[in-house]
Amino acid sequence: MGARTEIRLTVNGTERAVSAYPMERLLDVLRNELGLTGTKEGCGEGECGSCSVLLNGELVNSCLVPVLQAEGKDIRTIEGLATEALHPVQKAFLECGGAQCGICTPGMIVATVHLLSSKPKPTMEEIREGLNGNLCRCTGYTRIFEAVQSAAESMTSDDLKQLSCVPEKVR
Ligand code: FES
Ligand code: FES
Repeated sequence: MGARTEIRLTVNGTERAVSAYPMERLLDVLRNELGLTGTKEGCGEGECGSCSVLLNGELVNSCLVPVLQAEGKDIRTIEGLATEALHPVQKAFLECGGAQCGICTPGMIVATVHLLSSKPKPTMEEIREGLNGNLCRCTGYTRIFEAVQSAAESMTSDDLKQLSCVPEKVR
């Protein structure tokens, strides 16, 4: 894994410096070094999407990303979505019962934010496709898809601007 080194990341809009092994998983750095435990580990093999975060606006499985690859980039985790109130996508998941055990939920919500930032009014087909990297063992997906539809319906133009998760400097 090499020696620990200082790596600089922008996490949820704040620059952070961490001491980490270059090949350490971004997932572990977020959870263990930065205390951002909202990002969950399911499979640890890139199959379930529980560990989804946005890296320069792209949806990635943080269990597959060596932290060095994220150096200098903008990372958005579930903790970075809400401001004073819940993010509209979080609110929709809550109201529609889109979560049961909750392990998949942060990843589902981050994937939904990613989907709606490029497709504000997705069809059901597009919702299925947009979330096809995120697995849920509990809900049967129906309520999750309803939550995505509900979020899309309730989103204002300000919310949509907020969904542009990539900061100006890297757009
Ligand atoms: Fe990363 Fe499953 S924990 S994809
Ligand atoms: Fe349990 Fe999705 S709510 S895995």
